[in-house]
Amino acid sequence: MEEGGLAESSVEAVFPKGMPVLLIKKAGKVYAISNRCAHMGCTLAGGEIDGFTLICPCHNWKYDIRTGEFLSAKEIRVHTYPLKISEGKIFIRIDGGG
Ligand code: FES
Repeated sequence: MEEGGLAESSVEAVFPKGMPVLLIKKAGKVYAISNRCAHMGCTLAGGEIDGFTLICPCHNWKYDIRTGEFLSAKEIRVHTYPLKISEGKIFIRIDGGG
């Protein structure tokens, strides 16, 4: 995915190595988090962005896109993925998959 294709505050579903991941650009930085809500597994792709918070479209659970933490109980989180941007392209590191 090209970084330039991501608009500020946009939420883009991608599938690196078949994993459901969301790319979110906020304040000029790109974040990659799991596209599965920790509550009942809804896709977070239709969620609203409010600052650094992503709101699940199903039952409004709120996550910090920087850490994946559920704001009401920080011990619950969705996975976040490290990424790097090289020559304008976004590379997401999917752990454990080789
Ligand atoms: S599935 Fe996301 S809040 Fe319920």
